[in-house]
Amino acid sequence: MAKEQLNPMILPDSAGNFGKHGGKISHPELAEALEELGTAFHNIIGDEEFINEMKRLQATYVGRPSPIYHAKSLSQRGAQIFLKREDLNHTGAHKINHCIGEALLAKKIGKTKVIAETGAGQHGVALATASALVGLECEIHMGVADIAKEHPNVSRMKILGAKIVPVSSGAGTLKEAVDSAFESYLVQMDTAMFAIGSAVGPAPYPEMVAYFQSVVGHEAREQFARQYGGLPDEVVACVGGGSNAIGLFNAFIDDESVALVGVEPAGEGLDKPGRHAATMAKGTFGNIQGFNCYYLQEEDGTPAAVHSIASGLDYPGVGPQHCLLKDNGRGRYESATDQECLDAFLILSREEGIIPALESSHAVAYALRRAAELDSSKRLLVNLSGRGDKDIDYVLGKIEL
Ligand SMILES: Cc1ncc(COP(=O)(O)O)c(C=O)c1O
Repeated sequence: MAKEQLNPMILPDSAGNFGKHGGKISHPELAEALEELGTAFHNIIGDEEFINEMKRLQATYVGRPSPIYHAKSLSQRGAQIFLKREDLNHTGAHKINHCIGEALLAKKIGKTKVIAETGAGQHGVALATASALVGLECEIHMGVADIAKEHPNVSRMKILGAKIVPVSSGAGTLKEAVDSAFESYLVQMDTAMFAIGSAVGPAPYPEMVAYFQSVVGHEAREQFARQYGGLPDEVVACVGGGSNAIGLFNAFIDDESVALVGVEPAGEGLDKPGRHAATMAKGTFGNIQGFNCYYLQEEDGTPAAVHSIASGLDYPGVGPQHCLLKDNGRGRYESATDQECLDAFLILSREEGIIPALESSHAVAYALRRAAELDSSKRLLVNLSGRGDKDIDYVLGKIEL
């Protein structure tokens, strides 16, 4: 079952590597726990009962399949723009796809708690939701800068029963939250499962998260062919750690006519170190938080400061599968600035009546730019990874309306 869901190009070897990227954790105690998790994951995805339960929840709880919408006003610019509406999922983003899987897995292996980091709060909300659903304790680590910015999501997590651990070290954003969550996990490994928020980290996480997110691409490919005929020319998704993008790309990897386009945060400009988080454009190879990938680093190998207007993209590393797709040329990685993101946020809101997450607005920004370069026969399918309710106060603080 599992093996059919992910394209062999993005499956790891036995050492958890995707080309030179990825890998397993070296910390001995953690290595043992993750080995067990990997085995449990591979077992459950061959288990019909588990898969049926996951599919039942995807349909009746998450609201899958999410529709594909032809954004005709946006498409006036040139190429036709289509949106895969992951923003319409329960909890408002794609993150619920892997959280349902992770929570069911935690339950299956006898854990009573899940621990995770969150940036924009979408993974935190989705995990708190899935934990409430299956009956697990939930501990979410979140940087203090993100707590201030993503306040509505913090309230939602609390209401859902999650314990929030504020992280004030460093910049108080996603990277520090990951460190803090891992530290907490290390002392609770017997009872807790680490439920990572993106297709990053040591094995088995990139494979596991990509597997649970692959429903997006499988659905989209079938829906697009049925509703609009054929395949899109480009599939487009924002890239933070890379979970929504890999979930979409996976189903199109063998379709050579379809370009796979990831959009990174260029923040205040790619020429301003510390003021963007464009890992693919500016990162170099190395090891961050237990896995190898391209990442933004200082000369001594420590992760560099990063910035994006979108908290969920504000991470100095990126998933190993995307690094591989960059290396082998199958993926193309572009970027959008904070300003382009804000413009796209407003354009989608005002031309189509859809308020997108700031993260997803990066993909929309690229699509608007790209559509204007192409004629109306071309078709771009954009993963609208989340809705922007969480961002409205922040945006109103930035722009005068
Ligand atoms: C709505 C939304 N889209 C995208 C992302 C980026 O994550 P990923 O690259 O794993 O899809 C986030 C992260 O918080 C998010 O909340």
